[in-house]
Amino acid sequence: MYLFRRDLKNKHQVEINVPHLKYMMCLNESCLNPYQKVQAEFLEIMKHINLNRYHSSITAELYQEIACYAGTQKDHLILGNGADEMLYYLFTAVRDNRNSFALSLSPSYFDYQSYCDATGLQLKNLSFRKDFSFDIDCFMQLAHEPDCRLIILCNPNNPTGNLLPKQVIIRIIEENPDILVLIDETYFEFSGITFVDDISKYNNLVIIRTFSKAFSAAGLRFGFLISAPENIKEIKKVVTAFNLSILTQAMALAIIRHKQLFLDYNQMIIREREKMYYKLKTMSQIQVFKSSTNFLLFRYKDYIDLFSYLKENEIAVRNVGNEGILQNCLRVSIADEILNGIFIKTVSEFGL
Ligand SMILES: Cc1ncc(COP(=O)(O)O)c(C=O)c1O
Repeated sequence: MYLFRRDLKNKHQVEINVPHLKYMMCLNESCLNPYQKVQAEFLEIMKHINLNRYHSSITAELYQEIACYAGTQKDHLILGNGADEMLYYLFTAVRDNRNSFALSLSPSYFDYQSYCDATGLQLKNLSFRKDFSFDIDCFMQLAHEPDCRLIILCNPNNPTGNLLPKQVIIRIIEENPDILVLIDETYFEFSGITFVDDISKYNNLVIIRTFSKAFSAAGLRFGFLISAPENIKEIKKVVTAFNLSILTQAMALAIIRHKQLFLDYNQMIIREREKMYYKLKTMSQIQVFKSSTNFLLFRYKDYIDLFSYLKENEIAVRNVGNEGILQNCLRVSIADEILNGIFIKTVSEFGL
């Protein structure tokens, strides 16, 4: 007798397979530790917090600060534990029946599949072409199938690093008024491209953001969702009470009060990304792709050997080489000048 939801039986548990090496360039994290930067502010906020209570007055303030940062209003927001939790809530809220599906492009963020599995939503993917464009007419056809409940566009896309053309995104939103369109803007601060201003125009538009990348706070687990107030009301029906720890809120507030520090740091990451791109480009055996994120995707024929060599040298990168059009590809997160230098030196020593 199976005691759980029947469709879970053939699914796999989310596997967290992270190597613990000295130089972590595999998860698109930041190498700046935010706590060192905002410790005093955090401790000051903590003085006014009562951890014996569920509620805190800082919640309203955090909503206000985030709304101001994102260029929206408080009633357009849900705050939570990373973009991942926002995905989970959204998938839960749109699933209607066992045929309900989300439509996305592949390759994209690996955990769309995990959270679809967890919430009982199917995931249909249309493959990108080799140049990371896609067949928009075919995509629209899939979207028009009866049980399509959500369209997911990762912009810029992980792991390819590219942005989708703005007019294509707008067309998808406009031609599917009865389907929610999620734009995952996890890497927004590195691309500068956002659809937040379109939230007031389109009531089928949902955006998610995170503090895990640009705000150096992957371990904090803080992210947020932006949409029209009527969508927020519906999604909130599946949000657990007091979903966000007061400690997380206090740290998020300390970080957002010091946002300029992180935004300046991101400018350095963008400069480093361009430097690294050109260095990899000079290596004739490597094909490197332009990126609007804090990582680079590159192809090399003996990528498994290179991956192992980097690992032997304590450098962790992400192996994405068995993903269809990403054959022979690795993904490397951009760090500071020193770490990027170590990476490039090691790749050169490998013989490239
Ligand atoms: C595209 C994309 N969406 C969502 C996430 C999850 O972010 P968070 O750490 O905020 O849960 C990631 C993390 O790498 C990502 O790359």
